Amino acid sequence: MSFQLTAEQKMVRLMAKDFARKELEPTAAKRDKEEIFPMDVVKKMGELGLLGMMVPVEHGGVGAGAVSYCLALQEIAYSCASTAVTMSVANLSTEPLLKFGNEDQKAKYLFKLSQGELLGCFALTEPGAGSDPGSLSLKAENKGNYYLINGTKTFITHGQYADVVNLITRTSPEKGSKGLSAFIVEKGTPGFSIGTKEDKMGLRASNTVELLFEDCKVPKENLLGKEGLGFKIAMTALDSGRIGIASQALGITRACLDEAIRYAKQRKQFGKAISSFQAIQWMIADMATGIEAASLLTLSAAWRKDNGISFTKEASMAKLFASELANKSAYLAMQIHGGYGYLKDFKVERLYRDARATSIYEGTSEIQRIVIAREILNDQNYG
Ligand code: CAA
Repeated sequence: MSFQLTAEQKMVRLMAKDFARKELEPTAAKRDKEEIFPMDVVKKMGELGLLGMMVPVEHGGVGAGAVSYCLALQEIAYSCASTAVTMSVANLSTEPLLKFGNEDQKAKYLFKLSQGELLGCFALTEPGAGSDPGSLSLKAENKGNYYLINGTKTFITHGQYADVVNLITRTSPEKGSKGLSAFIVEKGTPGFSIGTKEDKMGLRASNTVELLFEDCKVPKENLLGKEGLGFKIAMTALDSGRIGIASQALGITRACLDEAIRYAKQRKQFGKAISSFQAIQWMIADMATGIEAASLLTLSAAWRKDNGISFTKEASMAKLFASELANKSAYLAMQIHGGYGYLKDFKVERLYRDARATSIYEGTSEIQRIVIAREILNDQNYG
């Protein structure tokens, strides 16, 4: 077992770090405050290959693999967690095409998504179907040459700016999770519009909207795989997505630790820097230890993905552990800052709000525990 990164992985991490510190860090607070979605930044990320990191070169990606992707995403999240979720969902949106798309679909969409010429989003959640997507109701009726789509998706990350949507629909009312199908839907298709833009607690520079479909005709060529595969396609995409959210949470946690250390070294109380007090040192030790553990879980899941080994359980473990850690670390970093941390002038205030989403989206912590427990209970190597 090697714990060494390759030269290429180190280079990718450095490139992402450099980009994040120069292009994201200086404006992250303003974009958060004013809810500015950074389309210019997204374009630059596309040019750097950050939106198609796991897509092979022949399909327009950089073929850097999941480990490099995790390292890069952490660096982006360290400076701006909103931009990190944009990057994560853009990369996630390449997965259904890569794994289930036919050659025509790959040629038409995957290349441009990977190069950042198109921005993709992923639409699974509905007002009545969040943790239980097998019950979703957005309807796609097979009309021969096209499917007629009616219904609403909600909580869709950068849905307002996406050029193409990975849309999970219901094609068979009676078949539960086996009655779902996935489509690629282009922005501007008649009958497809954007609904409410959500006013969120955190990740305010990432855009979250409803997608509305009213008698929207989608050509049958845009069906991914075949009818009935929608749930599997969504779950496969989410397995990768969860490694991304674990990395985002890790980036947030590393930022919490650095902010806490910086502040604790310069803040004096009782005549000394507060970093000399054990109460503060223990918080720092807990955060730093958590980061090591979360990194190993996340990189192990990514390594398995890169090596074609199943990683559903490992991705859920990484997402569960790293997102809970981000929440705890944001709490501790704010505690170390005392009253100042509660002010919007300090980065920990934003980190605290941004961390909260990581244990909710792409499957709550409770859903991750269900996935992990099911995998373990079905594995003959346990018990
Ligand atoms: N990969 C491939 N197939 C999978 C799979 C996976 N990871 N997980 C399940 N499946 C398959 C199963 O094998 C099963 O197939 P068979 O019937 O052929 O055996 C089928 O899918 C149904 O599986 P389950 O019976 O386990 O399904 P379930 O209804 O009990 O649900 C669940 C399982 C894990 C709870 C799942 O519903 C889940 O992950 N829920 C959370 C959804 C979620 O994460 N939503 C987030 C929205 S997206 C988002 O937040 C993005 C964003 O913008 C940031």
